[in-house]
Amino acid sequence: MKVLRTPAELREVRERNRASSEKVGLVPTMGYLHEGHNSLLKAAREQADIVVMSLFVNPTQFRAGEDLSSYPRDEDRDFAIAEQAGVDLIYAPDPGDVYPSGFATEVEVTGLTEVLCGSEDGRGPGHFSGVTTIVAKLLNAVDPDFAYFGQKDAQQASVIKRMAEDLDFRTEIIVLPTVRERDGLAMSSRNAYLSPESRERATAIWAALLETERTYPEAGLDAALDAGVHHLQTAGIEPEYFEARYPGTLDPAIDDSEEAILVAVAAQVDGTRLIDNILIEPGKKGSTK
Ligand code: PAJ
Repeated sequence: MKVLRTPAELREVRERNRASSEKVGLVPTMGYLHEGHNSLLKAAREQADIVVMSLFVNPTQFRAGEDLSSYPRDEDRDFAIAEQAGVDLIYAPDPGDVYPSGFATEVEVTGLTEVLCGSEDGRGPGHFSGVTTIVAKLLNAVDPDFAYFGQKDAQQASVIKRMAEDLDFRTEIIVLPTVRERDGLAMSSRNAYLSPESRERATAIWAALLETERTYPEAGLDAALDAGVHHLQTAGIEPEYFEARYPGTLDPAIDDSEEAILVAVAAQVDGTRLIDNILIEPGKKGSTK
C-alpha cells in the first residue's frame, strides 16, 4: 500500500498507470474508519483492479462551531484497516496542499443542497458545497472508473450523483447500504462522541424510522411520520428534521406514492448530531389504508 501526500504525488502516480486498462475504484473518507467504510472498501476491492482511498478531514464542509478540530482522527489505525482491506493507494493530503493560498473555486449543486441537512437550521448549504468541491477535486485527480458512497448519507449521495452527471464525470457513482450496529444504530465516526447513556438513547433513531415504515401502509405518510417523531420524543430526542422525500430530487414525497420514498432524520443526541434514513419501497404501501 502506497501513501500519497500531495496532489502532485497523486497526479504522478495516476499519470503512470493511466494508459493501463486496469479499473480504478475510489473510496473517499474522512477517516476514523469503521465497518461502514469497510463495506465500501470491500466493494471497491471486488470490482476494481486498483483501489484508492482518500483520507482527508475536509475543513470546508464544516460549519463554524462544528466539530472540525475535535473530529476523531487515528491515521495509524486507518492505514492498518485500509491495508487489511486491500487498498493500493491512500491519498492523505494536508489541507494546505488541497486548498493552497489563493484557492477560489467552489462547486455547488443547487436545490438539493438547500433542504434537510442543507437548511439553515441544519448544517447550511455551504456544507454541501464543501463536499462537492472536495469530491469534484478527488474525481478529477484520481479519475476513477467507480466511486463508492454510503446510503447512510443519503442526501450527500444524491447531491454527488447530481454533480457527477451535471459535470460529465465519467465515474460511475455507486451507493451502498448503511451498515448498522447490532442494535440498529447506523455506524458513524461521530458515534465515538456518545456516552454509554446517549449511545443507548441513540438507538431510538433507527427504531423511529422502522416505526414510520411499519405504520405507513395503514396510517398514510403524515401519520407515519408523526409516529416516528413521537417515538423519538418519547426517548427524549427532538429531531432537527424527520421528513419524507424522493431520493433523486429530494422533493417532498406525497402519500400513495408510486416511487420509493426516503425518510430521513437528523437529531442531536446530547450534543452529537446524528443522521439516518430508510428507503420505503412502494410495495410497502398496501391498499388497506
Ligand atoms: P465519511 O463520513 O468518512 O464517510 C465516508 C463514506 O462512508 C461516505 O460515503 C459515507 O456515506 C460512508 N459511510 C459512513 N457511514 C456509513 C455506514 N454506516 N454505512 C455505509 N456507509 C457509510 O462522508 C464523508 O466522509 C465526506 O463527506 C466525504 C464524502 C469523504 C467528503 O469529504
